[in-house]
Amino acid sequence: MGDRVRDWQGRRVVVAGGAGFIGRHLTRALVAAGAEVAVVDDLSTGQTGDLAAPLTRTDIAELDRLPIAADVVFNLACPASPRAYQADPVQTWRTSVIGTWSLAHLALGAGARIVQASTSEVYGDPLVHPQTEDYPGNVALTGPRACYDEGKRAAEVLLYDLARTRGLDVRVARVFNTYGPGMAQGDGRALPAFIAAALDGVPLRLEGGGAQTRSFCFVSDLVRGLMALALCDAARGIAVNLGNPDERTIREAAATVVRLTGSRSPLVEVDPVPNDPRRRCPDITRAQRLLGWTPEVGFETGLQRMIIDSVGQHRPRAQAGRAGQLPGPATNLPAPHAALARAAPLSKGPAPDGNA
Ligand SMILES: NC(=O)c1ccc[n+]([C@@H]2O[C@H](COP(=O)([O-])OP(=O)(O)OC[C@H]3O[C@@H](n4cnc5c(N)ncnc54)[C@H](O)[C@@H]3O)[C@@H](O)[C@H]2O)c1
Repeated sequence: MGDRVRDWQGRRVVVAGGAGFIGRHLTRALVAAGAEVAVVDDLSTGQTGDLAAPLTRTDIAELDRLPIAADVVFNLACPASPRAYQADPVQTWRTSVIGTWSLAHLALGAGARIVQASTSEVYGDPLVHPQTEDYPGNVALTGPRACYDEGKRAAEVLLYDLARTRGLDVRVARVFNTYGPGMAQGDGRALPAFIAAALDGVPLRLEGGGAQTRSFCFVSDLVRGLMALALCDAARGIAVNLGNPDERTIREAAATVVRLTGSRSPLVEVDPVPNDPRRRCPDITRAQRLLGWTPEVGFETGLQRMIIDSVGQHRPRAQAGRAGQLPGPATNLPAPHAALARAAPLSKGPAPDGNA
């Protein structure tokens, strides 16, 4: 796998959604590996700060030509947090389906390979555990998550059909929950929300009680998997799960955040959100066999890096001027963590956003 980095030298790569959480990490890794990279992004949930490659700002559904003559097109463009994708469900569906349609046809015209960031959400609330790529899923067609789940499913269908009928070179990554430095604290996803609450000393909200499970993959592991997938001929035209099979309950994840931040925040149970999956864990046998890929960063190590990054960008609630809220981390945390709260971020990572 180490040698694969050299395989990116001189390749021309378009990263759609490259200003988002995963996209910024991927763009940096590709540039570091010697690729010529161009980003396409409408900045709906993305950020321009720390972008490692030139940006073409547009909606992928409106894109009429690729910014460079690409060998590889990564399609990461789509809001990933439930709060963001449910804010405009029609646009989410349009991005997933019409946007993928445009990118796929542009890739076809350019003779480029397309790597699609699909999602574990295509398995819905799974009845099979852990989820293999062959499991067809249990998705609620009419629920609030359907714009995203079904949009991603439709995008996969389109890509497999273009591969079969037109010879499009397709790779599909089914991405499971990914976390790390650079996620937006305010976008509603579990780990950034827990970290923000712990730093503010306010309760961590366990929607539905917290017994539901997730498997969290550190972003550098995911990026390594996406880059390996893009170069793996044996993965052409099939889906590959990319995620960390280290499954834990949301309650356990929240308790770990409280412990690592040294916060005194309590955990509180609140009402469930509709169609929240009860269990989520990837079977990564296929990724291990085809890509030689396996996640390497343990949960506490990754979380520690994310917490340090979050402290650097955290804006305490009281400081944000919202009435009636508790003071921020520097005054609220026990002494050693107040020091952590003043420390500079570990990585000069990208600014906030994203996860499903
Ligand atoms: N982060 C996760 O845990 C996770 C899990 C499963 C799948 N994924 C998938 O990975 C991809 C990236 O996720 P992320 O966490 O970085 O999300 P993100 O929201 O941080 O990034 C998405 C990026 O796409 C851009 N975008 C959205 N709609 C667009 C459009 N119509 N045209 C152009 N750009 C558009 C946004 O501005 C943003 O920069 C998404 O496709 C998501 O579905 C992520």
